[in-house]
Amino acid sequence: MTAVTGQQGLDRGDQNREAGHRDWDERLARRTHALGGSEITAILSLAGATDVITFSGGFPEPATFQTGTLADIAARLIAEEPGVALQYSATEGLAGIREYVSGRLAATDGRAPGAGELMITSGGIDCMELLAKSYLDPGDVVVVEAPTYLGGLMAFRGYEADVRGVPLDDAGMRVDVLADLLAGGLRPKIVYTIPDYQNPTGLSMSAQRRQALVDLARRYDFLILEDVAYRELGFGARENDAAPPPSMWSLAPDVVLQAGTFSKIFSPGFRMGWAAGPAEIIARLVIAKQNSDQCAGALGQRMLEEYGRGGHMDRQIAASRVLYGRRARLTTDALAAHMPDGATWTTPAGGFYVWLTCPEGVDTVALSAAARAEKVAYVPGRPFYLADAGVGANQIRLAYSRVADDLIDEGIRRIADVVKSAL
Ligand SMILES: Cc1ncc(COP(=O)(O)O)c(C=O)c1O
Repeated sequence: MTAVTGQQGLDRGDQNREAGHRDWDERLARRTHALGGSEITAILSLAGATDVITFSGGFPEPATFQTGTLADIAARLIAEEPGVALQYSATEGLAGIREYVSGRLAATDGRAPGAGELMITSGGIDCMELLAKSYLDPGDVVVVEAPTYLGGLMAFRGYEADVRGVPLDDAGMRVDVLADLLAGGLRPKIVYTIPDYQNPTGLSMSAQRRQALVDLARRYDFLILEDVAYRELGFGARENDAAPPPSMWSLAPDVVLQAGTFSKIFSPGFRMGWAAGPAEIIARLVIAKQNSDQCAGALGQRMLEEYGRGGHMDRQIAASRVLYGRRARLTTDALAAHMPDGATWTTPAGGFYVWLTCPEGVDTVALSAAARAEKVAYVPGRPFYLADAGVGANQIRLAYSRVADDLIDEGIRRIADVVKSAL
């Protein structure tokens, strides 16, 4: 940078520093430039808003938190086990919770992890970050669904991966499109997928495509990162909805790393999750975790284990499925009642989200200010795609999970009015 000399022989940088202004951004590491992240910050900043009907964040309903039971468990652990619950834990997690999570996986996925194949993480995003940190060099190719979860995009971009999108349809990721890209020479290191009730679309991947993706991973030698954040939140409204197709990790533990989280089925305040996959990879993630947060909080690990072994987790999940199923139905009913012709949306069979496509030409980023003025919030579609994709401008993610039943219709009516005003 050219120095601009001022009166006292100080360049502009010196003068700014003398005046107390420092340009910290100028010193940012190059790898942060592609990061983005303002969208997640904006979503979380609305977490405490009380006068806005907010369909923005993927937050669980606080009424699902079993506060009395948790208070009892916390009091008991702190009184009786401070040497464990208030202490550091092993980086891979305490033996008790690993055994508990292992048992859950045997029940939910039909497969228990073998020796060294499971670790406890600090939520689902921790697994993605640890994987990216350990395995991605700048320019390595990572394939994601288009659209996909913002946190996943950020983890891969943060390590300067060459991130490519593959579209989705009603049966999940277009594995045939991926197969064509692979046949054309694309060589991803990682393929990231959210097969069950995906964020942001609410769509799920068919059993046939799961098997096809696993076959491709073996043939072309890439790792599938399977994010099962919403897997256990099927509504069960139709046969098989409550029991989604097999997890890819259960189909192919040799080429799949499963990232799980307790944020949506227990509480995000605990920041608890798991990673299950090849022992060689888990060992690397454990090393990477040692110099991030060293271990998930031991109090949370012990509380989750006690809560789960007491049967409370199963009860919470059963009640959550009913609650979110009802809210999903209220949301799609309201969309049918209020949206203008030409708008379409997904009908989720589980999870937290409806993906709304407005008529062509509607700019949902531009409209979010008008929505805020009407005291309603959503996340525009564009950030869920890669920056250069040029799509998603007329799309919206609606998270119904934390909107009270009696506010859903009113909230959707306000969004519909804002959309109509742009036509
Ligand atoms: C698909 C998906 N994966 C992972 C996460 C992150 O989970 P956690 O809060 O446990 O890090 C989320 C949260 O919104 C998500 O939607």
